[in-house]
Amino acid sequence: MAFDLEMIKAVYARFEERIEAAKKVVGRPLTLTEKILYSHLFDGKASQPYERGKSYVDFAPDRVAMQDATAQMALLQFMSAGKKKVAVPSTVHCDHLIQAEIGAKKDLETANKVNKEVYDFLASVSNKYGIGFWKPGAGIIHQVVIENYAFPGGMMIGTDSHTPNAGGLGMIAIGVGGADAVDVMAGMPWELKFPKLIGVKLTGKLNGWTSAKDVILKVAGILTVSGGTGAILEYFGEGAESLSCTGKGTICNMGAEIGATTSLFAYDQKMKAYLEATGRKDIASEADKVAKHLRSDEEVYQNPSKFFDQLIEINLSELEPHVNGPFTPDLAWPISKFAEAVKEKGWPAKLEVGLIGSCTNSSYEDITRAASIAKQAVTKKLKTKSEYTVTPGSELVRFTTERDGLLKVFEDIGGVVLANACGPCIGQWARHTNDPNKKNSIITSFNRNFAKRNDGNPNTHAFVASPEIVTAFAIAGDLTFNPIKDKLKNENGEDVMLDEPQGIELPIKGFAVEDAGYIAPAIDGDKVQVIVDPKSDRLQLLEPFPAWEGTDLKGLKLLIKAKGKCTTDHISMAGPWLKYRGHLDNISNNMLIGAVNFYNEATNKVKNQLTGAFGEVPATARAYKAKGIGSIVIGDNNYGEGSSREHAAMEPRFLGVRAILVKSFARIHETNLKKQGMLALTFVNPADYDKVREDDSVDILGLQSFTPGVPLTVVLNHSDGSKDEFKVNHTYNEPQIEWFKAGSALNLIGLKEKS
Ligand code: F3S
Repeated sequence: MAFDLEMIKAVYARFEERIEAAKKVVGRPLTLTEKILYSHLFDGKASQPYERGKSYVDFAPDRVAMQDATAQMALLQFMSAGKKKVAVPSTVHCDHLIQAEIGAKKDLETANKVNKEVYDFLASVSNKYGIGFWKPGAGIIHQVVIENYAFPGGMMIGTDSHTPNAGGLGMIAIGVGGADAVDVMAGMPWELKFPKLIGVKLTGKLNGWTSAKDVILKVAGILTVSGGTGAILEYFGEGAESLSCTGKGTICNMGAEIGATTSLFAYDQKMKAYLEATGRKDIASEADKVAKHLRSDEEVYQNPSKFFDQLIEINLSELEPHVNGPFTPDLAWPISKFAEAVKEKGWPAKLEVGLIGSCTNSSYEDITRAASIAKQAVTKKLKTKSEYTVTPGSELVRFTTERDGLLKVFEDIGGVVLANACGPCIGQWARHTNDPNKKNSIITSFNRNFAKRNDGNPNTHAFVASPEIVTAFAIAGDLTFNPIKDKLKNENGEDVMLDEPQGIELPIKGFAVEDAGYIAPAIDGDKVQVIVDPKSDRLQLLEPFPAWEGTDLKGLKLLIKAKGKCTTDHISMAGPWLKYRGHLDNISNNMLIGAVNFYNEATNKVKNQLTGAFGEVPATARAYKAKGIGSIVIGDNNYGEGSSREHAAMEPRFLGVRAILVKSFARIHETNLKKQGMLALTFVNPADYDKVREDDSVDILGLQSFTPGVPLTVVLNHSDGSKDEFKVNHTYNEPQIEWFKAGSALNLIGLKEKS
């Protein structure tokens, strides 16, 4: 079986002691979130209380999951750490690179051809280093994780923003960048700012057309896309206990849309039933033994406002189905107001495509509820007016729903079943359209609906709703339709209404699958060869970065003085560059091409001090590197904000940039730079930014006595012979200084492995 019972037992065995220790230092009852966090401290028992939203804390997650797009660089880096095996159970899931076009079978065949080298690489690295491999077609990372790996009270990280889906099974599951995954797989601590806590009390019970999806659509409307930033949402109350485990997963999944660190439910009977139905009876019985630790202390439930930083209450009995959008997931419309909004705002009322499934909504329950609506189209002699697609989240769900005749129901109304993969959810959708410039509407049961997200077309208005509402709209073909009160004309000219959806939480005949798509790694990976074609333009093995030469850095050429906002997207753009995520040399051709040059206000146009000519940033850096000359980047405030993309730190390192000196850093990027062996420095006096001139050569002094808390010195050698000298700060601690000296954090691990 794909899960690790012994690991889970070990986690539960330390609960009592660690939670009691935490209660002592915190001096009050604990929420479930705090219990899980405090029992996963890297250093063991808590010795001090952590301040929410302030303290940076080292954790030891139980598990790592990676999807195929982000896994490439993570695993290339892991390989260079010189470890024999991953330190914690880890898995790779091939779900992002499959393009939806014709249907499951054909699309999967095409993906296997187009992405062969990437899949072969991921499979062989997984095999070698003890990582579970889920091949293309096995399913979407989050659905596979909740079916196989998530467990109540556990903690995991995943290299995808919707990793919090596992919160539906009581796990703290957080989306991270590849560099974090490498740390945990290499046995290093994983740092997180201790989150704030938002409590969501659910009362009442869902009924009629309302589903779990509507809970999170409502919460998104309340909190907006940034309202959850830096916080964990903990759901509780009788309403929470009435929701199915996968329904809880849907709610946690879309916590990403409000910026939440993650979301979480307490262990209950629904989770137990799901664990049992997915072949994990023994985990359920272990969880039963520590059940009191898998929920907040009673005092928290009695007086929640005392324990949460913010409290929201939703009565499920009164909750209406919602439709959110377009262009943002927090524009929340109760169905009773939606038709009016469509008319008033002039959004295209004609619905072109309805898409159900994805990692967010493809449970057995979701499929049965949507199928109960689809069936009515046939029996009530209605024709589906829109295109309609179904994306099962995993082979387990696909096989079971096919066995139970549910997929056939969708096909009967003209639905196309797509591969068990992200597909249109991540924009991997060759949408058929004859006029891409026409404003048009689609509705999905996915999570994100930003402009261009699903089909790359800025004219597409994407709305988000539950699978059953999407299905009803696809039948009506009209966004001004309200299935709760409106009638539809059928083929015979009669007025008919759709009945409320009926769902089945777990398959009565049990889940079934022939080939789930899992490939276990070799017990002894020593002899396994990792397959990378040296001629590949998508994959490249990493060479370790050179160690520090032991001297001060002198004569660094100014590569660019970036003006204003410089996010990780400015430093390492996404879009077409995603293809090169596993090839550091090729992807480095996007380095800083979005940053604005202070001197000419242009992007990707900087002066090459060796020739005096202006050229692209990557080419200029390469010219310095070819001559053995280091370079430096100067930046403004909050440099490197945005994603945790490690390429934004690796690319400058690869192209010979030795230091990034800015007014202030986004913390994750600063840490990523340190991990890659770069100098991440800040001006003591931000006005010194103005002293930097276009033709400067820069010295960084004081490295031989590089010490935590002691500033370094920067000398600007101007072309007219004059100089400016000032102090710069850094935040390196002792171990991080060792990373710098070794050339990177991974080099240091490699050195330790060898010694
Ligand atoms: Fe992401 Fe794939 Fe889900 S793209 S949102 S993991 S379906």
